Amino acid sequence: MLVHPIQTGGNRNFAYVVADKAAGIAAVIDPSYRPAEVVRVARQGGLTIARAFCTHDHHDHTNGNAEFERLTGVRPLLFGDTDPETANRVEDGAAFPLGDLTIRILHTPGHTPDSICLHIGDAVFTGDTLFVGKVGGTDLGAGAEAEYESLHRKLLTLPAKTRVFPGHDVGVAPESTIGHERETNPFLLRPDYESFVELKRNWAAYKKEHGIE
Ligand SMILES: [Fe+2]
Repeated sequence: MLVHPIQTGGNRNFAYVVADKAAGIAAVIDPSYRPAEVVRVARQGGLTIARAFCTHDHHDHTNGNAEFERLTGVRPLLFGDTDPETANRVEDGAAFPLGDLTIRILHTPGHTPDSICLHIGDAVFTGDTLFVGKVGGTDLGAGAEAEYESLHRKLLTLPAKTRVFPGHDVGVAPESTIGHERETNPFLLRPDYESFVELKRNWAAYKKEHGIE
């Protein structure tokens, strides 16, 4: 499996080309600000782009979709969409083939109600649900509650060695693993929802105190 992160601009947004290299088949996640560059990277690697997804419907992740579709004929799918090729709906637990790999959808509401993470091989693409050392922005009510559940019931149940590729390079490193996040991410170390939301409430002060950018 090949994972090629591409810095697309915006708020240090990441697009990803993910491929079954042997089969020469790729999926694209969040082409965002630089769809032409994402397509170039895939084609230069001899890869055919079979499908594409957006991790959620925020403009900084979806603004390149029309151009991406024009270049590839592939429409990036969001939560709730139906894949024209497989007739599979993008919903929790849905699976899409990628050569010999499988793209498994985890519905992870919180940052937005339509947030998804994509579990492919030994990697998970977490959009704005989980960053390295941080978590996605939410309100301090229902959104935070949903995100807490998504993190603990979905993402943290993946194997510890699962590589984590977030939607923005805004964390303490560009990538991580589920095990490392479980052991070091201050939000994931909080033992219950109350202390999780408390950290969100006091995040600015916490960052300052701990020298986090
Ligand atoms: Fe977002």
